[in-house]
Amino acid sequence: MRTKIVAGNWKMNKTFEEAEDLITDIIELLDEQGKPEHVDAILCPPYVFLEMAGDITADYPVFIGAQNVSQYESGAYTGEISAAMLRSMHIDFCIIGHSERRKYFHESDEMLLDKVKMAHKENLVPIFCCGEVLQDREVSRHFEVVKQQLENTVFKLSAEDFNTLIIAYEPVWAIGTGITATPEQAQEMHFFIRDLIARKFGAEAAAEKTILYGGSCNGKNATELFAMPDVDGGLIGGASLTAEEFVQIVHAAGAGA
Ligand code: PGA
Repeated sequence: MRTKIVAGNWKMNKTFEEAEDLITDIIELLDEQGKPEHVDAILCPPYVFLEMAGDITADYPVFIGAQNVSQYESGAYTGEISAAMLRSMHIDFCIIGHSERRKYFHESDEMLLDKVKMAHKENLVPIFCCGEVLQDREVSRHFEVVKQQLENTVFKLSAEDFNTLIIAYEPVWAIGTGITATPEQAQEMHFFIRDLIARKFGAEAAAEKTILYGGSCNGKNATELFAMPDVDGGLIGGASLTAEEFVQIVHAAGAGA
């Protein structure tokens, strides 16, 4: 059975105290209500809060992830954070290839593959994002775009490395817009991605791959989305900034488990 995952991508939100409060509220709620057994909850706060997040959650079944990682190993790269630094802080996961990084920071497929390799070198599990923009969908190019994104990056990995990776399908038109993909739209793309994985890495690798949906997923629509057979949880932006809603989404993933 595939692990269900709900990961909160906080993006560039919250001050130190607000972050402390949010993490504390999340673990208190999960403690009170019980975390569903087959669901992993991951919090991805900004880099500067990772240490505090790790400390607060140390005794709780919650993982901490970073939102990015450098494609370089170490050295004169002002402002960058390496995979080894994250590993040395006991970080387990790392979002790579988010559409905001591709758009605003010009991260190319080549760069993203380097980032994934760096993450793997330090035993970080990448949460690798893919997804089409609205114009692609309007001209029915969405399947082709996602296929290209995967073929240019993570499909170049060895089968072993590919196994240590989570995929997040995030249609760009759904991110932060309040326009969620319908459960059927999410399912058909997740099925398509799983089929591509089966052709490339075999049926077992495909069956075991966790594929998350991201894009205006919230407490209200998560249950329906996660009920789809190929949707294994979510990468949550806006709705991960409120403890109640994030925990509600974790439970929605549990219901579909
Ligand atoms: P959203 O963001 O849930 O706010 O749409 C999702 C994401 O960008 O990961």
